[in-house]
Amino acid sequence: MGSVIITGASSGIGMACAERFARDHCNLILNARREDRLERLAERLKLYGVAIYYKKVDMRDSDGVTAFIRSLPQDLMPIDILINNAGLSRGLGPLDAGVLEDWNEMIDTNIKGVLYITRAVIPLMKAQGYGHIITIGSIAGHEPYPGGNVYCATKAAIKSLNKSLRMDLVGTNIRVTSVDPGMVETEFSEVRFRDAQRAQKVYQGLKPLTAGDVADAVHFCATRPRHVNIENLVITPTQQVNAMINDRDYAGKKP
Ligand SMILES: NC(=O)c1ccc[n+]([C@@H]2O[C@H](COP(=O)([O-])OP(=O)(O)OC[C@H]3O[C@@H](n4cnc5c(N)ncnc54)[C@H](OP(=O)(O)O)[C@@H]3O)[C@@H](O)[C@H]2O)c1
Repeated sequence: MGSVIITGASSGIGMACAERFARDHCNLILNARREDRLERLAERLKLYGVAIYYKKVDMRDSDGVTAFIRSLPQDLMPIDILINNAGLSRGLGPLDAGVLEDWNEMIDTNIKGVLYITRAVIPLMKAQGYGHIITIGSIAGHEPYPGGNVYCATKAAIKSLNKSLRMDLVGTNIRVTSVDPGMVETEFSEVRFRDAQRAQKVYQGLKPLTAGDVADAVHFCATRPRHVNIENLVITPTQQVNAMINDRDYAGKKP
């Protein structure tokens, strides 16, 4: 294995992916805004004897993202995998009560950030003659849920973009996959609600996925033989059918 780029590696799914691929002796290229966390993660993962390059990069900053990829040391090439993971939700409520700043943060990170880095990485993968772009979508991109309007729309956009990308890359030997999770217990809900107590309630009475469960799914997609492309992998807790139906809220309401 060569290097794996993971965006948003300071927490949750991104951090778990870093650990999963370090265990496989892949070199890691990581970013996030909280550099202190990346530093601690890099220190911990050195145990696996891998090279780790990390940088504070805000995915909303197109110039910063491009410079990040241009700054990669030659000895970290080739780039086997790009994991587009950085993303977030802000708020939950009707569209007419939406906060513009929150909308911009979600759209700029979840859609534009993915576009910036994917555009910068594709030429490297084309030159190598192979590569794999794995994006963390969401079941929210398959079916919206009440109050999720803009977040769900960003994930639906990613779902569409992944299909386009697969077509754009025909003939290049670059694989394109989206891994779309349901409920995963990470800092996601705390970021969404800016309220730790409210966030905890999201997971009460259910056994959600862990970040490690999703990292395992990403790793599975990445480790199929090179002639195998998994287009989309949907992963939810056993107790969650989709964004609207789960054992906790739906049991007893069945017809
Ligand atoms: N948790 C779930 O239930 C769930 C379900 C479906 C899909 N997802 C998706 O999974 C992905 C990871 O989320 P998570 O659950 O692991 O949440 P998390 O624990 O909050 O992690 C989000 C990561 O994204 C990074 N990030 C956010 N904005 C960024 C920006 N502007 N620039 C660079 N990095 C940024 C954060 O780093 P910094 O704050 O340090 O920048 C953090 O490392 C997201 O795309 C999310 O939409 C999550």
